[in-house]
Amino acid sequence: MNFTVLTIFPEVIDSYVNCGILKRSIGHGLFSVNAVNIRDYTLDKHGKVDDYPFGGGAGMLLQAEPIYRAYEAVVEKMQNKNPRVVYLTPQGKQLSQEMAKEFAKEEELILLCGHYEGIDERVLEEIVTDEVTIGDYVLTGGELPALVLMDAIVRFIPGVLHNAASAQDESLSDGLLEYPQYTRPEVWRGKAAPEILLSGHHAKVNEWRKEQALIRTRQKRPDLYFDYLRGR
Ligand code: ADE
Repeated sequence: MNFTVLTIFPEVIDSYVNCGILKRSIGHGLFSVNAVNIRDYTLDKHGKVDDYPFGGGAGMLLQAEPIYRAYEAVVEKMQNKNPRVVYLTPQGKQLSQEMAKEFAKEEELILLCGHYEGIDERVLEEIVTDEVTIGDYVLTGGELPALVLMDAIVRFIPGVLHNAASAQDESLSDGLLEYPQYTRPEVWRGKAAPEILLSGHHAKVNEWRKEQALIRTRQKRPDLYFDYLRGR
């Protein structure tokens, strides 16, 4: 899978994907991330990519042309001439685990990061296929949301997580929160890890974990708990 991120801060994208699991997975060729600087595609001799909104109002808008030229340049090099283009915006559809799994089926994905007060609507109409929000709050730019989306997607790419089971096992994959986990030492500052986990009895451990997941979800996320009950 190839991600292309259209942004005025490519270094933000590069620095995040250059750590940990993402760095390793990219090194193993499981996916690629190409952060493209929109500024490289402006025709303005001072490198300007923004301007005042027609009709007045606060702030600046990213102009259509540099974004469109950046888009054309990246699509030019792709086999698929109609890749999905995801615009990160508070007006989008709320990101979910389900949505991330769907996006993971794509071979190419272009993520468009807005800034300032937004983007000239005309280029959005031309190129955007999907709008996604990471939650009901407003950030200064689309880079963090793009990284959040990408991170959630790549966890579904086989090989990114060490253990094939982990993407399935964890929180939310079955609609429940994850059970509590413990590691060495067995007793930490007087607090013992649950004995059942040290018993070596796999069936009992699984039963305990399921029960804990249910208890936790009911306590912390009653909304998810009732969805879970309804879905059974
Ligand atoms: N851009 C600014 N805020 C955002 C949000 N909450 N989700 C996606 N994109 C955004």
